[in-house]
Amino acid sequence: KVDLDKRAIEILRENSWGDYTLPTKGLYPYQWNWDSMFVALGFSEIDLDRAWTEVESLFQGQWKNGMAAHIVFRRDSPSYFPGPKVWGGTHEVATSGCSQPPVAATIVRDLYEKDPILGKERLGELFPRLMRWHRWFHTKRVISGGAAIAVTHPWESGRDNSPDWDDALDEVDPTGVTPYQRKDLGHVDADMRPTNAQYDRYIKLVEYGRECGWDHAQITREGPFAVADPGITFILMRADRDLRKLAKFLNKESAVHEIDTWLYRAEHAANYLWNDEIDAYAARNLRNGQHSDGVSSVAFLSYYGGITKPKRDARLQKTLDRILDSAPYSLPSFDPQHPKFDSRRYWRGPTWAIVNYLVARGLEEYGFAEKAKRIRLDTRKVIQDNGFYEYFDPITGAGSGGNHFTWTAAIWLAWAS
Ligand code: DGY
Repeated sequence: KVDLDKRAIEILRENSWGDYTLPTKGLYPYQWNWDSMFVALGFSEIDLDRAWTEVESLFQGQWKNGMAAHIVFRRDSPSYFPGPKVWGGTHEVATSGCSQPPVAATIVRDLYEKDPILGKERLGELFPRLMRWHRWFHTKRVISGGAAIAVTHPWESGRDNSPDWDDALDEVDPTGVTPYQRKDLGHVDADMRPTNAQYDRYIKLVEYGRECGWDHAQITREGPFAVADPGITFILMRADRDLRKLAKFLNKESAVHEIDTWLYRAEHAANYLWNDEIDAYAARNLRNGQHSDGVSSVAFLSYYGGITKPKRDARLQKTLDRILDSAPYSLPSFDPQHPKFDSRRYWRGPTWAIVNYLVARGLEEYGFAEKAKRIRLDTRKVIQDNGFYEYFDPITGAGSGGNHFTWTAAIWLAWAS
């Protein structure tokens, strides 16, 4: 344990570039949104000041319309595609044109509560930025009358090649995509990454966004891809509750009222995502109402989001038991009993330490301590046996994707160790 703690700290320090941290060298040579927030959580175990700095640097990539971008490009790196030119963003610091799961407010609350004296001023600066970002989600990523949060690019979900997006992505016509060369396959085996057919569509969606000047409301309303995501929806719900608490600390009553209007719709959003056929929350294509027919690990974030419904939860718990029993290194990102499960391919099966942490946190809070513990021990074991990989094969435990991976090291320090 001592050695692993030491190694985890080294990974955080080695991947740290001044005031922000790379997910891993080579494969991801910039600052990624939710990666950075888990990194802040990791840093908060050893250097709280550095943890705040990580959050602050992310918000240098916040757009005028409130969006905190999914990648902040601060220097040129030939090892990654697509770089800033392809995105053609309009913000003064080069960024990508979509967002990522908003864990920031929850992490900021954690940092603040660790030391309210150190954190007070920094919270004061960040609070309006967090409000603007959450407002962006609730206005620009919701289709009129709905409440579940849409992703308009699989990259926005953070779960790039999840089967959750397959049907909607099939509808995206890749004809005429500008020729390009993938860089990810120079770092990681092709069978652990998205396919070329998926990449063509990812790039085509970037081109669509760029051509419409990154008008995010239009992209959600009319773009080629809009899917309600249980991952972002529950993560934002949780972040709204934490942001509300922060608004209370700061005596910002009008912010509290605004957040209440968002939270008022939380149950409606959860109802929309519930899929009776698979006894789980599932993604839903906003263009045709079709549900994804497979169970992703983010289905179990409902507790983390603060949603409980006794009858439904009994069914969800049965689904969780089934999934836990079908993979020795849980929690697989996709149901091992589904034909689309692929134990090595990124978000189509592998286990991710960050999702485990969020799911377990919610389960623990709602009294499912045993299951939370099981997920934590699985996470500990898979890291102990294999190292700090980006993700893990849930059947064999084999480390997959990038190595010396910052968020896995961060979750080790903050929770799994
Ligand atoms: C990638 O390039 O694979 C990233 O996941 C995009 O965010």
